[in-house]
Amino acid sequence: MQSLEDANLSGKTVLMRVDFNIPMDKDGNIIDDTKIRAALPTIEYVIGQGAKLVVMSHLGRPKGKPEEKYSMKRVAGHLAGLVNTSVKMADDSIGQQVQQAVKELKPGEILVLENVRFHAEEEKNDKEYARQLASLADIFINDAFGSAHRAHASTAGVAEFLPAYAGFLLQSEVSMLRKVLDYPESPRMAILGGAKVADKLGLIENLSEKMDVILIGGGMANTFLKAQGKNIGISKYEPDLVERAGKLLEQAPARKVKILLPVDAVVATEISPEAAGQIVAIDKVPNDCLIVDIGPETIILFAEEIAAARTIVWNGPLGVYEYDQFAQGTREVARAVADSGAVSVIGGGDSAAAVHNMGLESKITHISTGGGATLEFLEGQILPGVAVVEKFSFA
Ligand code: 3PG
Repeated sequence: MQSLEDANLSGKTVLMRVDFNIPMDKDGNIIDDTKIRAALPTIEYVIGQGAKLVVMSHLGRPKGKPEEKYSMKRVAGHLAGLVNTSVKMADDSIGQQVQQAVKELKPGEILVLENVRFHAEEEKNDKEYARQLASLADIFINDAFGSAHRAHASTAGVAEFLPAYAGFLLQSEVSMLRKVLDYPESPRMAILGGAKVADKLGLIENLSEKMDVILIGGGMANTFLKAQGKNIGISKYEPDLVERAGKLLEQAPARKVKILLPVDAVVATEISPEAAGQIVAIDKVPNDCLIVDIGPETIILFAEEIAAARTIVWNGPLGVYEYDQFAQGTREVARAVADSGAVSVIGGGDSAAAVHNMGLESKITHISTGGGATLEFLEGQILPGVAVVEKFSFA
C-alpha cells in the first residue's frame, strides 16, 4: 500500500479536494475557519514538495449555477493569509482559462478553483465534468473528509482519471473514527441537532440500530415533535418526513433504543441578534413563535443521560448557535460531553465551534471536520470519497 508520502510530487500538478464549506454570516464573513486550518498540513506538504497545487471545494448548496454569495473568493483570500505562498483564484473550475491559470502557476503556488457546485454535473458525478477537472493535474489528493459521503465528480469521479491519494486530514479522521467504531463501549449515545433533518432521517434510523440512547434537539427535533402532535408554532419542519419520524419514535422500544426529545424550549418571535427568548414547556409553544433552543429542563435531562454514556457521538447544535442568546443548550451539552469522561466524537461546524470556544478540546476524544460524513462512517457505511483513495493511502 502506498501513502501520500511515497508519491513523487516534485514538479507535478496536484488537484486536491478539500472541504472548505465553512460557515459564513450573511455579509460573507467567515465565522469559523477550522476546516481550512485542518487542511493546512496537506497543503503545506504538497507545496513544500515543489508541486503546483490546485485546490477545489464546494461552498453551500448553490443549485448547479454560479451564485456570488457562494463564490470561493473569500475563502481563497482567507487561505492566502494562512500560507506562505501566492494563492490565486480561478474564475471557474474547468475550461480554457482555468487550464491557462494552471499552466501559469509556479511550483509551490496555489490556485483555488471556483465552487465546483456551480456546475450541476458536480453532484451528478458526471464523467465528462470529472474528466475535465482531472485534466488539470497529474495527481489527485482527497483531503475532504467532510464531503467524503458524497459521490460527486470532485470527491470520487476524478479518481477514475488520476492516481488518487488520501490527504493527511482524511487519513487521520478515518483512523480516529475507526478506533471509535471498533471499541464502542455501552451505553452508546448519539446526540443529534442542526437543521438538516431531510439528510439525516435515514441516518437516525440506522443509528437507532447501533445506539442505546439518542438525544434529539435543534431544528431536527421539530419534525419529531410534530409527529408527536405537538404545536411547534412557526418553527420549520419537514412535513413529508413527519410520518417516518413518528414511526421511528414508535419503533424505538422494540429496537431497544431510548429516543429523547426536548421537554421544554426557548422560543422567540424571530431569529435575529435582537430577538429575546422565552422559556416554555414543550406543549406550550405559542402560535407566533419558533423554537430557538432547548430549555433548562431539557438541559438537565440531557446532561444526566450524557453523564451515564460511555461512547458519545454528537452532531449538530441544539439551538440557533450563531446567536449568543440561543446558544445555551449547545454550550451546556458541550460541557456535559466534556465532563462525561466517555469516548466522544464531535462532528459538524457549530458543535465543534462550541467546544473550541469553551476551550474543551482536550476533553473530547476526537473533533471531526465531518458532519454527515462522520455519522455515515460511524454507521458503518463505506464513504465514496474514502473508497477511491483507500488502495493508495491506508496501510
Ligand atoms: C458538510 O458541511 O457537512 C459538508 O461540507 C457537506 O456539505 P453538503 O451536506 O452540502 O454536501
